[in-house]
Amino acid sequence: MLDTPVRRKTDAPSLADEGMPGRPTLLSVDDAKAMSVAKMTDLFRDHINPGQLHFMKLLGFDKVKIESASGMYYTDQNGRKILDFFGGFGSLAFGHNHPRIIEARKKFQDEDRHEIAIAFMSQYAAALAKNLAEISPGDLDMVFLGSSGSEAMEAALKVAERAAGPSRPKVVYAENSFHGKTKGVLSITDSPLYRGEFRLTDNGVKVPFGDIEAIRNAFEADPQIGVIVLETIQGGGGIVQAPPGFWQDLRALCDKHGVLWVADEVQCGMGRSGRFYAFQHAGVVPDVTALAKSLGGGKTAMAAMIARREIYMKAYGTPKSAMIHAQATFGGIGEACVTAIEGLNIMYDENLICNAAAVGDYLLERLDHLKSRYPQIVKDVRGQGLMIGLEFQDFSQTLPALLRPMVAMLDDKLKGSLSGFVGAELLRDHNVLVAFTEYNRNVIRLEPPLICERKHVDEFVDALDAVLARGVARIVRDFIATQVKGKQKA
Ligand SMILES: Cc1ncc(COP(=O)(O)O)c(C=O)c1O
Repeated sequence: MLDTPVRRKTDAPSLADEGMPGRPTLLSVDDAKAMSVAKMTDLFRDHINPGQLHFMKLLGFDKVKIESASGMYYTDQNGRKILDFFGGFGSLAFGHNHPRIIEARKKFQDEDRHEIAIAFMSQYAAALAKNLAEISPGDLDMVFLGSSGSEAMEAALKVAERAAGPSRPKVVYAENSFHGKTKGVLSITDSPLYRGEFRLTDNGVKVPFGDIEAIRNAFEADPQIGVIVLETIQGGGGIVQAPPGFWQDLRALCDKHGVLWVADEVQCGMGRSGRFYAFQHAGVVPDVTALAKSLGGGKTAMAAMIARREIYMKAYGTPKSAMIHAQATFGGIGEACVTAIEGLNIMYDENLICNAAAVGDYLLERLDHLKSRYPQIVKDVRGQGLMIGLEFQDFSQTLPALLRPMVAMLDDKLKGSLSGFVGAELLRDHNVLVAFTEYNRNVIRLEPPLICERKHVDEFVDALDAVLARGVARIVRDFIATQVKGKQKA
């Protein structure tokens, strides 16, 4: 007698029968959508980034599960609407789920359009490149499409280095710069934390940001300098702008010394500053630039490096050199290109660049007013368009002496930084989300979608006013009490 069932010819063998492991237990899309906050926290800790969870807990961000998002607002698991003045570090120019972007993507899918076009030319990549060339001033005409700001900046650095040639391998970059976390651009990113102990390139020359004399001295002292890379407005450094006249002087200096200027517009570009590119405020044109973030319409990953034709031709203009630079697997993927094309059209149809300038002026005006009301708390308000930084005083100096010992209980990152406390309170009590800056923990970074209206500014500034009116001592005491309560619970 047989003790195992006889398999009929029609029975398909399972992987286990073939000696292969069986089907792993996988979560479905529906499982992901329905996941509880507790489960999400466990999985984030176990599989993504336990250290990051620590900061999310400190700020109270770990209690939120976003269920949907539309325009200027997120909606969380409790139906609470959260005003987005963070804007994904500048990735949400069109707000969340802009209806025209959703429609363009749905149509593209319904028509069974192709995505991957490595073998063939892509009509979508061609149209996007043409649009970017049309928008970009001067002969910034040659476009490389990628998926992240780091990738676009890698491409920018490479095209400039090749065009500068092997006798001029040195690259000038700025103090407090941020150009991405991949290894090439990490070499010109001025953060000991991010640089860690990685082996980076040693051809960088660091100068203070916005210091034309330091750049002049560097160019004059070292003829091996061939490239200078600068964010037009520093984002991670705390929303820092160069002094008036700097960019015109830089252009002249680069022309004089034959140095190529790469403008990183990954964060400040795409209309955020009140011009499509922030360098357009100065009326000058760099040799190479890069965009990312909002180019993906808030729905996908899309980035572009745009080079002057002459620079591009020097670097990659022959069939022999062309493939060094050809796009990566997902560069110019169909639906991402269509998303970016629709986004660029929306930007002009809805007048978003002018809106960023006008609403940004209003935001600055209201924040300046807060600064004059709370000089002991607000140190500085700065920026342009909808890229604004609000810097707080170092509260470890201004806190009443009696309360100072409390600060000793805090995490190192939070000592002296009021922005975390204010941000946590804005989210908890006023349903407003703001961002912090990587290098200057005392700065709140405001990069709301460019669809932002004056009523949203009022909502945000009124909330901030209510928080600041409580005074530093109460804000700090309250924050620490929340931490202690959280620890006791855990
Ligand atoms: C100025 C700047 N350049 C480059 C990058 C890197 O972009 P990504 O994070 O998409 O790689 C960023 C990201 O914040 C940025 O702000």
